[in-house]
Amino acid sequence: MASSSSCSIDVSKATYVALSGASQGIGRAIAVEVSKALGPNSVMLLLARNKEELAKTASACESKNVKVVCTPIDLSMATEKELFDVIDASLKGYDITDFNKCLIFHNVGSLGNLAVETGKMDNVQELRQYFDLNVFKVISLNTQFLKIFEEVESRVVIVNITSLCAIKPMGGMAYYCSGKAAREMYFKVLAEEKKHIKVLNYSPGPVETAMIDYVLAQAVNDNLKEVFASFKSQGTLLKPEATAKKCLRVLLAGKFSPGEHVDYFDDEL
Ligand SMILES: NC(=O)c1ccc[n+]([C@@H]2O[C@H](COP(=O)([O-])OP(=O)(O)OC[C@H]3O[C@@H](n4cnc5c(N)ncnc54)[C@H](OP(=O)(O)O)[C@@H]3O)[C@@H](O)[C@H]2O)c1
Repeated sequence: MASSSSCSIDVSKATYVALSGASQGIGRAIAVEVSKALGPNSVMLLLARNKEELAKTASACESKNVKVVCTPIDLSMATEKELFDVIDASLKGYDITDFNKCLIFHNVGSLGNLAVETGKMDNVQELRQYFDLNVFKVISLNTQFLKIFEEVESRVVIVNITSLCAIKPMGGMAYYCSGKAAREMYFKVLAEEKKHIKVLNYSPGPVETAMIDYVLAQAVNDNLKEVFASFKSQGTLLKPEATAKKCLRVLLAGKFSPGEHVDYFDDEL
């Protein structure tokens, strides 16, 4: 991990937090972990499709310090206006200057088609849908967030939940690797342009979530199946809570360079 730009991020005062993919897995664990650190008059906006599971995350996050707004939304379909309105509505009764820090976690993610060989990816419609959710709508949500918080941009903190697959090819995962690489590079370019905004690309390691079961059920690539089956059989998968804690430690310590890719297994400084 780079040791440059080392100012810590203080969320112990009023803080605004938006988090996508909050209904389960890593997103839920990060939401719960971040909620514990927030100061009085903080607001959290939780996004995902599953209303019931979102409500469970919300009740785990709510406290005397934290008001939680849950908005069930299909992020793959949402228009720019809908994304703007969802953030805007969560700020009803607040002024953006009320918040000492304004955080967004781009955690939403899917694996794509694991049943097609990389040399035979001829379904452009399916590829578009994959990139819509995992890249284009992430960029769009981020753009609406920056628009809303423009006046206090130096208080903005952005976390992209990335993957080792963004920087290392994994056979059988061309949708996922190319989507994660494109998404991570977008946040790196943004960080390059806006040095006053803290941008972290956090890679959570292999984590025990629905994604792992999806790989085991859908993958056609033998090596991919073997890797994930051995993660499971050897008990090496991380718990969502463990990687969420590390994500928060790295983030709040602030010891990462603009847009840096920090992995769960990297040493902490
Ligand atoms: N698990 C791992 O080992 C691992 C490793 C590296 C990186 N990651 C990354 O970590 C992030 C979270 O992964 P996870 O393992 O926790 O996956 P997960 O359990 O499958 O959770 C994915 C989340 O995204 C939401 N989501 C999916 N499609 C959506 C849509 N169309 N609109 C709105 N929300 C949608 C899901 O909620 P709904 O279904 O309710 O919409 C869910 O909350 C992803 O970006 C993933 O790439 C995971």
